[in-house]
Amino acid sequence: MPSLVWGCVGPHESTIQVQTVVSTLVQFSKLVSDSTTSEGIFSLLAQTVVENCGAFHSVVFGTSDRGDFAVLSSYGGCDEKALSRLDLDEVYSLAELRTAVMKVCGDWGYSFRVFPLICEAKLFGALVVLYSDSHPRTDKQWILIEGLTELTAISLNKTYQHQKLQKAFDDLRISQDALVRTEKFRALGQMSAGIAHDLKNLLSPLMLSTDLIRDAAGKRDEVLQLSERMDRILTRGLETVERLRDFSRQSPEEVEAVPTDLNSMVQEAVEISKPRLGKIKLVPELGTPPVIRIRPADCVAAIVNLLFNAVDALEGKGTITVLTGASDGGGWVEVADDGPGMAPEIRSRILEPFFTTKGDSGTGLGLSIVYAFTQRHGGRLEIQSEPGHGARFKMWFPAIQEQTAEEPSQSSRHPG
Ligand SMILES: Nc1ncnc2c1ncn2[C@@H]1O[C@H](COP(=O)(O)OP(=O)(O)O)[C@@H](O)[C@H]1O
Ligand SMILES: [Mg+2]
Repeated sequence: MPSLVWGCVGPHESTIQVQTVVSTLVQFSKLVSDSTTSEGIFSLLAQTVVENCGAFHSVVFGTSDRGDFAVLSSYGGCDEKALSRLDLDEVYSLAELRTAVMKVCGDWGYSFRVFPLICEAKLFGALVVLYSDSHPRTDKQWILIEGLTELTAISLNKTYQHQKLQKAFDDLRISQDALVRTEKFRALGQMSAGIAHDLKNLLSPLMLSTDLIRDAAGKRDEVLQLSERMDRILTRGLETVERLRDFSRQSPEEVEAVPTDLNSMVQEAVEISKPRLGKIKLVPELGTPPVIRIRPADCVAAIVNLLFNAVDALEGKGTITVLTGASDGGGWVEVADDGPGMAPEIRSRILEPFFTTKGDSGTGLGLSIVYAFTQRHGGRLEIQSEPGHGARFKMWFPAIQEQTAEEPSQSSRHPG
């Protein structure tokens, strides 16, 4: 990039041949296209006009967004003091610029011409070329200066368009960031709603248990049994609240997954669900699933979700079967009911968060929680249902590879 040099270059007197015009333009356009900033382009123009076109001095003016003019680059034989007399206050058009330059040109003892820097109807500024009357410029020299000015304007327009595109891109990135943040908040909202949902599932039966305790006052064994059950439910409730802390941790290694016996999970979930059964029959058909690595609180919550859905579907009468077993190198638990089942259009949407057919009494989160739970632990959720033929929800999880080395913790802590 050429630097500004004051008063060091004199007029170039030789006649410019067409060849020189072309080669200057080509060289200039190469230099300009290498220049990445508008400032670089302005000073290149000022310097080339003096050094290659025999001007005495050249000044490049730029226009701001408000339309006023400012000196951006200056090159040639004028000294800085002479240039400082140029008054650009209230100069907002090419005509006003011409008048302002004319006012001081007499002092300088030079004639001048103004070349606007215009491309696609956008004015980027102007080039003012000072020359001595005693050394008039040839037509070819003026043509060359015109060509340089046009090339400069094209290049400035390119830079301007590039900046506009860059700004549009930056704006887009900012709005994308905002969108991601909104998504995170949405996920946070979903998680809070999910936890509230699970806590409600746990706490409502607890309230029924306190009623039972009151009724059983005096019967020591029953009270002990009930308080033990409440203790277990409360433990699960606390673990559910713990999930808030797991929000940023997603893999099974990070969410305190432990070797777990599915049958004991079923027994806990059944116990929690019992108060809601009413006349509905609940039949456990427990097989011998292998030990799997999951988070017990989440597993109990998932089975409770499936049981409550079955209870809702049965509307007070029917049978729920809870099955466990081993298949495909893993263990599974299934909740089946002989209720109304689901139409295909409902079936296709039930995993969507907030999809519910229960109006205000549903949250539409139960099954999305169950699905997320199976995914988090490398398992899967299989759903079978036909209208009029009940529904079956089966959670499958891979078995722990070296089972012998690990004891399932949950069954020993809460024997069924
Ligand atoms: N066992 C079932 N039988 C029939 N439909 C069911 C069953 N389980 C779930 N569904 C359907 O799936 C929907 C979504 O269930 P879920 O995500 O648990 O939310 P919610 O129970 O709050 O509605 C339910 O509203 C219901 O339409
Ligand atoms: Mg539900």
